[in-house]
Amino acid sequence: MTKKDILYDTVLARSFSKTDQKRLCCGAFIASLLLVLTLCTVVKPYLSPLPIVELQLSVGTGLRMLSITELTTNTTISKEEVISECNKMEKPICHCNTLGSKEFCDVSGDVRIHGKSATVLAAVTFAFSGNSTWYMRPYARKDQVPAMKRVREWTVKLVQNASLSRCVRNHSVPAILFSLGGFSLNNFHDFTDIVIPLYTTARRFSGEVQFLVTNKNLLWINKFKELVRKLSNYEVIYIDEEDETHCFSSVIVGLNRHRDYDKELTTDPSNSEYSMSDFRKFLRDTYSLRNSAVTTRRKPRILILSRSRSRAFVNAGEIARAARQIGFKVVVAEANTEIASFAITVNSCDVMLGVHGAGMTNMVFLPDNAIVIQILPIGGFEWLAKMDFEYPSKGMNLRYLEYKITAEESTLVKQYGRDHEFVRDPLAVAKRGWGTFKSVYLVQQNVSVDINRFKLVLVKALELLHNQSV
Ligand SMILES: *[C@@H]1O[C@H](CO)[C@@H](O)[C@H](O)[C@H]1NC(C)=O
Ligand SMILES: *[C@@H]1O[C@H](CO)[C@@H](O)[C@H](O)[C@H]1NC(C)=O
Ligand SMILES: *[C@@H]1O[C@H](CO)[C@@H](O)[C@H](O)[C@H]1NC(C)=O
Ligand SMILES: *[C@@H]1O[C@H](CO)[C@@H](O)[C@H](O)[C@H]1NC(C)=O
Ligand SMILES: *[C@@H]1O[C@H](CO)[C@@H](O)[C@H](O)[C@H]1NC(C)=O
Repeated sequence: MTKKDILYDTVLARSFSKTDQKRLCCGAFIASLLLVLTLCTVVKPYLSPLPIVELQLSVGTGLRMLSITELTTNTTISKEEVISECNKMEKPICHCNTLGSKEFCDVSGDVRIHGKSATVLAAVTFAFSGNSTWYMRPYARKDQVPAMKRVREWTVKLVQNASLSRCVRNHSVPAILFSLGGFSLNNFHDFTDIVIPLYTTARRFSGEVQFLVTNKNLLWINKFKELVRKLSNYEVIYIDEEDETHCFSSVIVGLNRHRDYDKELTTDPSNSEYSMSDFRKFLRDTYSLRNSAVTTRRKPRILILSRSRSRAFVNAGEIARAARQIGFKVVVAEANTEIASFAITVNSCDVMLGVHGAGMTNMVFLPDNAIVIQILPIGGFEWLAKMDFEYPSKGMNLRYLEYKITAEESTLVKQYGRDHEFVRDPLAVAKRGWGTFKSVYLVQQNVSVDINRFKLVLVKALELLHNQSV
């Protein structure tokens, strides 16, 4: 990767884009950006150290915040230059995002794809100026280098008047070419980076579209088989090994993820013809989920999302007992079973309770008006929690409650003592890098909630359910 690519692909670059400058007023925004990069809890382990930066603690309105003091990345090209160069080059074939990296390319005419050489060739009859070759990785998390390193690079080339290789397989429907590399098989990234963008890109074809998968990943295809079948009437083609030329009249290379820097797990409300409500309805159809909204006709049900390895509940039994006393029917389950059956479990509940992590993504299956309760471990997860799950929950017509544990409720206290730096000063730990931060707060930490304090949240959830008018 060149220095320029790293600049394109750095979350920090976001803070310099024009549209975002308005929001820079509050440190909260910067904090949310930084947290994604440094503390990201929901991604698979990073492969390489992140290109970061001095962190500085500032304490505002009772929340611990991070703020940028200095960019140590050597940014010799300004953000504006990157964007204008991109826009000049890409139109009208390849489209840039606000970071200036190529999000997806939309080629039509006589399009020929050769998998082994990762080339998309389009013979065009119109005159064009500028560059006719683009390189792009068709995965929708362009801002995270570790993800993009696991995505095959494709060449998209316009040729005028050229002698193209012979079509061996001629397709009558359009194609969408996308990668199943990146952070795939992390449930959060499966939805934000692939499923939602794939849905918004493919749905309008009503199944008459051919999926071309680069970075073959049979586990992913198996995990989402119902959904893939619902979006495309054709068997997936694993294009990387194809030595025969496939021909199409129209191909979209890459998926377009909506970039709202305050919010993950969302469609693009201004540009997409599909809303999150449409997406959730699509999920209900795909997995035959019965409940479109919570019902008050029966005893309310709460799902306690358990985790068996990290950020586990020490006292899940006690939580379940308290919930029962308060009046819930309790379901305890871990999100590691088949998605189709787990979706049914989630959809049968009115409240979903879990510790911050990829499992919370299952909120997409909850009925409207259901309640999400997110528990935040110690370590400074506030802004990430908002961006990943709180704000998205609103877009899904869900209601949201949060419970932030105190140091005493973290097993880190038992393990290291109240005065250890891990307990006192997570930011100092974060400064030592992602690896250290992750091993302490994401891997070594379990949660033992103070049941008397936590009961109040359960009671509040029950009240909200009874008060459907909210
Ligand atoms: C940043 O880039 C400039 C120009 O390429 C170079 O002169 C300078 O030494 C670089 N600084 C660092 C810290 O790498
Ligand atoms: C086209 O892009 C390639 C790759 O970025 C570059 O090497 C080449 O010089 C460009 N050609 C023109 C005419 O801009
Ligand atoms: C394009 O094709 C036409 C007709 O075959 C030919 O006359 C012309 O020279 C070609 N142009 C180029 C740039 O190859
Ligand atoms: C591919 O199919 C299209 C439409 O059926 C047809 O017009 C075209 O000539 C075919 N191309 C080749 C190379 O067979
Ligand atoms: C957290 O809980 C899980 C499940 O009980 C256990 O396997 C793991 O060892 C615990 N981790 C720590 C650091 O206590």
